[in-house]
Amino acid sequence: MGHCVFLVLVALFSVTSAQFIPPYTEDCRKEMYPPNGPTFRGAVSWYTVDLDSPPSKRWTPLITDKKADLINMIQAIKDLADAFVPSGRLIELVDITLPLMVDTLPSPFNDEIKGIATASGIPLGEVVLFNIFYEVFTVCTSVVAEDDKGNLFHGRNLDFGLFMGWDIKNKSWIISDKLKPLVVNLDFKRNNQTVFKSTNFAGYVGMLTGIKPHTFTLTMNERFSLDGGYIGILEWILGKRDGMWMSFLTRSVLENANSYEEAKTRLAQTKLLAPAYFILGGNQTGQGCIITRSRLLSIDLLEIDLKLGRWYVLETNYDHWEEPLFLDDRRTPAMKCMNQTTQKNITLKTMYDVLSTKPVLNKLTTYTTLMQVSEGKLESYIRDCPNPCMPW
Ligand SMILES: *[C@@H]1O[C@H](CO)[C@@H](O)[C@H](O)[C@H]1NC(C)=O
Ligand SMILES: *[C@@H]1O[C@H](CO)[C@@H](O)[C@H](O)[C@H]1NC(C)=O
Ligand SMILES: *[C@@H]1O[C@H](CO)[C@@H](O)[C@H](O)[C@H]1NC(C)=O
Ligand SMILES: *[C@@H]1O[C@H](CO)[C@@H](O)[C@H](O)[C@H]1NC(C)=O
Ligand SMILES: *[C@@H]1O[C@H](CO)[C@@H](O)[C@H](O)[C@H]1NC(C)=O
Repeated sequence: MGHCVFLVLVALFSVTSAQFIPPYTEDCRKEMYPPNGPTFRGAVSWYTVDLDSPPSKRWTPLITDKKADLINMIQAIKDLADAFVPSGRLIELVDITLPLMVDTLPSPFNDEIKGIATASGIPLGEVVLFNIFYEVFTVCTSVVAEDDKGNLFHGRNLDFGLFMGWDIKNKSWIISDKLKPLVVNLDFKRNNQTVFKSTNFAGYVGMLTGIKPHTFTLTMNERFSLDGGYIGILEWILGKRDGMWMSFLTRSVLENANSYEEAKTRLAQTKLLAPAYFILGGNQTGQGCIITRSRLLSIDLLEIDLKLGRWYVLETNYDHWEEPLFLDDRRTPAMKCMNQTTQKNITLKTMYDVLSTKPVLNKLTTYTTLMQVSEGKLESYIRDCPNPCMPW
C-alpha cells in the first residue's frame, strides 16, 4: 500500500514539475472539424460483431486483427504490476486466480472472454484483468445536447490511464498511449441487421460508449464516491455476487432496451458493483439525462429542460451539484464552450470543437466519439494532446 502511495506521489511530482505549466487551458476551439492537425491521431476502423455466432467465436475476427496491439497493451499492464510488486508475483496471482473468476461472470461475457483468450493466445487471467481494468480507471467528459429544431447530439471524450506510468521523455501516459491502437468501432448485428454500435477497446466486452440507432445513445463515466467505492468488486471476488458490472449493464441495455424510457429505468434501478454516471440521450425533444448512481439506486436524475433554458446536460466525473476538484475542473471549461456555442449552433461539428478544447482534451484523452441518434450515426477519432497540455 505504501508503495502505491509513493508511486502516485512520484507520478504527481514528475507531472507537476515537467508539465504543470500554463497555458494548459485555452479559448474555446473553432473549426476543428473535420478532424485534422496535431490533436487528431487517426480515424477508427469498423468491425462487425455477429450476435448470431456463439459468444466464444464472435470476437475472433477482431482479435485476430488486433492481437499484436493487445499483447503489447497487456505487457504494459504487467510491467506496471511489476513496478508495484516486483518479482512478478502479482501477475502470477492474476494467472492463477482470475481464470477462476471468469465462470462467475454472467453469460455471454464469460464465454466471450474465454473466446478472446483463445483467439489471442493471452492467458485467460490476463484477459479478465484487462476487462476489470476499465471498470475502475476511466475518467471522461460526456454531453447530450438538443438544438433548436429538436435534434439530439451526444458526444464524449474517453480519458484513460491516470497514474499508470508517466513517460517522462514522451510526456505521456504509457497505458493511455498503448490503448490508442486498440480503439475500434463495432457494429453489433443480429439477422444481418444492426442492433447497436459502439466505440470500444479490442479485447473488452463491456460497453462505455454506444448508440441504438434511432432510439437512444449512451455513455458511462466513472464516479469516484465514498458510498461504496470498489467494495462491490471485492465482494464479487469473495463470493457475494448480487450486483452487476457497470459496463455489462451498459452493453445489456444497448442490446436489449427498446426505448429511452426503458433504458433509463434499467440504468437507474439495476444494482451495481460500483457507483457510476450514465449519460443517456433519447430520440425526441427533452430526452437527455445524467443518471447519478450509487451501487444500489439512482440518487439523482438531471434532464434536459428547455423551459428552464437547460438545452444540454454535461458530466465529467463529479456530482453535478458539487464543485469539481479544483485540480481537475473540466466541467467549467466545457460548459463555457457549450454556452458560447449556443443552442442554435450546436451540431456534431461544434460539439467536436468543445471536446477539442484543453483541458476537456488532455493527456489522457484516448478517443472522441460523436453520435446523432436521428441519423443512427456514430463516429470516433483517436486523439492526441500536444504540449503544453494538462496531464488529466
Ligand atoms: C515515445 O514516442 C515515440 C514517438 O511517438 C514512440 O516511437 C516511442 O515508442 C514512445 N516511447 C514509449 C516508451 O512509449
Ligand atoms: C447482409 O447485409 C448486407 C448489406 O445489407 C448484404 O450485402 C448481405 O448480402 C447480407 N448478408 C446476408 C447473409 O444476408
Ligand atoms: C423513438 O423511439 C421509439 C421507441 O422508443 C420509436 O417508437 C419511435 O419511432 C422513435 N422515433 C423516431 C423519430 O425515430
Ligand atoms: C452556462 O450556462 C448555464 C445556463 O445559463 C449557466 O448556469 C452556467 O453557469 C454557465 N456556465 C458557464 C461556465 O458559463
Ligand atoms: C452561429 O452560426 C452563425 C452562422 O454560421 C454565425 O453567424 C453565428 O456567429 C454563430 N453564433 C455563435 C454564437 O457562434
